[in-house]
Amino acid sequence: MARRKKIYEGKAKILYEGPEPGTIVQYFKDDATAFNAQKKDVIEGKGVLNNRLSEFFMSGLNQIGVPTHFLKRLNMREQLVRSCEIIPLEVIVRNYAAGSFSKRLGIEEGTQLPRPIVEYCYKDDKLGDPLVTEEHIAAFGWASQQDMDDILSLALRVNDFLSGVMLAVGIRLIDFKIEIGRVYDGDFMRLIVADEISPDSCRLWDIESGRKLDKDVFRRDLGNLTDAYSEVARRLGVMPKNATHMAKPKLIN
Ligand code: TMP
Ligand code: ASP
Repeated sequence: MARRKKIYEGKAKILYEGPEPGTIVQYFKDDATAFNAQKKDVIEGKGVLNNRLSEFFMSGLNQIGVPTHFLKRLNMREQLVRSCEIIPLEVIVRNYAAGSFSKRLGIEEGTQLPRPIVEYCYKDDKLGDPLVTEEHIAAFGWASQQDMDDILSLALRVNDFLSGVMLAVGIRLIDFKIEIGRVYDGDFMRLIVADEISPDSCRLWDIESGRKLDKDVFRRDLGNLTDAYSEVARRLGVMPKNATHMAKPKLIN
């Protein structure tokens, strides 16, 4: 069997060279990390769930005309995506106060914001992904003013789509993070949504009970992470069965 070329290994995913130029295979690991990898664990079934959930959100976005890197799911843990040049920013959209926003501004978690607030962090693990402003982004040339207009518009469209999809299944989208990539078509460059959209990168609260259905379950030791992600998948009709059972193939004698 031919060995695939590994392009990059991150905390939750591995990228391999794809079968055709301009494509990448994105493999979802079961590893969970938090607080810049100070807290680590392997959560059986998480990769399978995130692969399916990211497929669900990204293909929905593609269908409504929000361009993403997603091409197709290959198997339980892998999807084929368009290769792109990642802009070194974490684009965060917040509808309700939570996490670092609540800490920074002293606003109680769960407080509805007067409008969606978009924040940018510079992607650098060594620095702990610091919050930056458009001034830093322009001055250091990470993105142009036109890019920033397009990024804001993409982020708000993703927010409207995800908020609606989640609301329909009784879940409140508190906040989320996306990454944006550049793709080149001849003389033209476009921006697309890249990386992943999953409960690892969103805050999702059950509307009725307030139960957390996202990575805060792991960050804050609130229970079983796969149960929380499976609940999201079940409500969205993404995975009919329990993920942990689907995580490992069984040998048939
Ligand atoms: P924060 O409140 O910790 O800044 O997180 C805001 C949102 O971004 C939340 O939905 C979790 C997500 N997020 C990531 O996806 N990756 C990260 O490295 C961090 C810090 C947050
Ligand atoms: N920053 C990510 C998170 O907490 C993971 C990590 O920092 O290790 O979601």
